[in-house]
Amino acid sequence: MPCQSSEELKALVEEARKCTKNGRVADYIPALGKANPNELSIAIYYPDGRCISAGDIEEKITLQSISKVISLALVLMDRGPDYVFERVGMEPTGDPFNSIAKLETTTPAKPLNPMINAGALVVTHMIKGNTVEERFQRLLSFVQEMANDSTVSYCEEVARSEFETANLNRALCYFLKEHKIINEDVEQLLDLYTKQCAIEMNCLSLARIGMVIGMDGVDPLTGKQVLPTDIARICKTFMVTCGMYNASGEFAIEIGIPAKSGVSGGIMGAVPGRFGIGIFGPALDEKGNSIAGIKLLELLSKNYKLSMF
Ligand code: DON
Repeated sequence: MPCQSSEELKALVEEARKCTKNGRVADYIPALGKANPNELSIAIYYPDGRCISAGDIEEKITLQSISKVISLALVLMDRGPDYVFERVGMEPTGDPFNSIAKLETTTPAKPLNPMINAGALVVTHMIKGNTVEERFQRLLSFVQEMANDSTVSYCEEVARSEFETANLNRALCYFLKEHKIINEDVEQLLDLYTKQCAIEMNCLSLARIGMVIGMDGVDPLTGKQVLPTDIARICKTFMVTCGMYNASGEFAIEIGIPAKSGVSGGIMGAVPGRFGIGIFGPALDEKGNSIAGIKLLELLSKNYKLSMF
């Protein structure tokens, strides 16, 4: 059994917090620039219902790119893998999360994977429903089911702030529309995508979602199969190969667990068959991953032998 107590976790958090001084909060989404760079919190959720935590775990964070794992799961359930992977690939890129470069040099122009922004926009485009509102409510209900918390919602301020400034994502959408990978109104798609990224929750709920993915899609506390085993397997695999963007290789070697980061400073970990992890540390490294969050996962992985490899 890994870390047994919140006291043990607190010591690791204090050690990892020292790294925050080397990071910066994301400010290309202006509302995220308000975060306190020194913050660091973590929750671990076990299949028997035990939780341990350290830091301010009541604080809510927006999912940002962590939401890409959940939208992918929903779309795979909606449309099946063949349809989805005709439109978005399965390969890591080695490029930053918001890069447009490979779209131009890859034929067909479909994005290389669903974790980079271009791929995530295609995934969000595939969420079924007649209106943006209906599609968002379907996604939100699914997130609520995974977190087992019907109060999970989204932060309007962060969604608006990203919508008003998302020129790079707009560029990606227009490129994808030109190449007929997407065919909806770009502003509508960005409205849905920025709301998706602004879904917010605390570290405990994030850890619970990580646990469900780690337990092959079953919530062990309710006994419910929240997502099919095969889709949980696909999600975990993308988390390993692309979850930390162009840091995924080093992360797999040094830490070795399926994880997904977001520019809010969140990281969701899914330790297969063992537990879920939710981390919040808004100071980011140069690749857009939580700098102290990665340090904390490294300490946890080394101390408690979490690597799956
Ligand atoms: O689309 C964006 O740029 C953000 N809403 C999400 C990017 C993100 O979280 C990348 N993560 N490290």
